[in-house]
Amino acid sequence: MKVVSARKLTKKYDKLVAVDGIDFDIEEGEIFGFLGPNGAGKSTTIRMVQGVSPITSGSLEVLGMDVRKQSKEIKGLIGVAPQESNLDPDFPVIRNLTTYARYFGIPPAEAEKRSRKLLEFMQLSDKADAKIEELSGGMKRRLIVARALINEPKLLILDEPTTGLDPQARHLIWERIRELKKGGTTIILSTHYMDEAEQLCDRLVIMENGRFLVEGQPRDLIRDVVGPCVMEVIDPDGKEIEDYLSTKGDQVERSADRIYVYSKQCEIVQSDFRKRFPEVYSRVRPATLEDVFLKLTGRRLKE
Ligand SMILES: Nc1ncnc2c1ncn2[C@@H]1O[C@H](COP(=O)(O)OP(=O)(O)OP(=O)(O)O)[C@@H](O)[C@H]1O
Ligand SMILES: [Mg+2]
Repeated sequence: MKVVSARKLTKKYDKLVAVDGIDFDIEEGEIFGFLGPNGAGKSTTIRMVQGVSPITSGSLEVLGMDVRKQSKEIKGLIGVAPQESNLDPDFPVIRNLTTYARYFGIPPAEAEKRSRKLLEFMQLSDKADAKIEELSGGMKRRLIVARALINEPKLLILDEPTTGLDPQARHLIWERIRELKKGGTTIILSTHYMDEAEQLCDRLVIMENGRFLVEGQPRDLIRDVVGPCVMEVIDPDGKEIEDYLSTKGDQVERSADRIYVYSKQCEIVQSDFRKRFPEVYSRVRPATLEDVFLKLTGRRLKE
């Protein structure tokens, strides 16, 4: 079954086209990623799927229902951890969960039970009675994810769930995401961390200016867009090196203090390079999703 199905999905804010006619399907049980630079349209897309931002045109079905007609039913079946923290500062941690449970018509005793269980799941049990302001950034993110699970959603939407977290907190959230997937939950994830996307997503899209640049499995995207490996030349000095390298790879890219050579045979390119420029530091590494992202969206800030 398709959990989400979008055709020519479009969102305009006055003249600004934030989402520009995208098509995608999300299958049951998969983790689907939205990647893209700031302002690409990830959150806007996600908010349309949630049913909180009306679509301008096109069609969008979530769990087999039309978001235009059945947004209330859809909201009852999905869980959302939004990008911006919107915890209620007037309630302690546990009340943030039990109060939220009321929106779904969950009876108080059941709400209490689920809330305790979710706090344990996100390793927040000892903070049950703490005030929101006493939580660290990572604890707040974990609480927001816990809250998104209160109605045992079929579709879980996580908009940048690990932004600003330390490695331990990120890994805990990753583990929990994988556990939820094993339990059959379909998950939409947006992130700026390429390692996160590479590890978690079954499929992903890279967006820019409201459109998809590519769609696929992380492995396939790396292979098809970049190739197996990259040679990086660090602090290359002078045009001679650049000229030499310009013919050596399938593609060569220059940033302020690096030259990137994408090739199917990095070791050979490097060994030749070392003979010619023995004093210049270079290294060969496997290509990553970050290379895909930067190759497609450019290495410079665009704002
Ligand atoms: N409520 C709004 N009113 C007007 N313009 C908006 C609104 N929300 C988003 N936009 C614009 O729509 C575009 C897409 O924004 P969106 O928040 O979807 O990007 P994003 O991919 O989630 O970016 P980020 O990585 O920074 O979270 C941006 O140009 C943004 O300024
Ligand atoms: Mg966003």
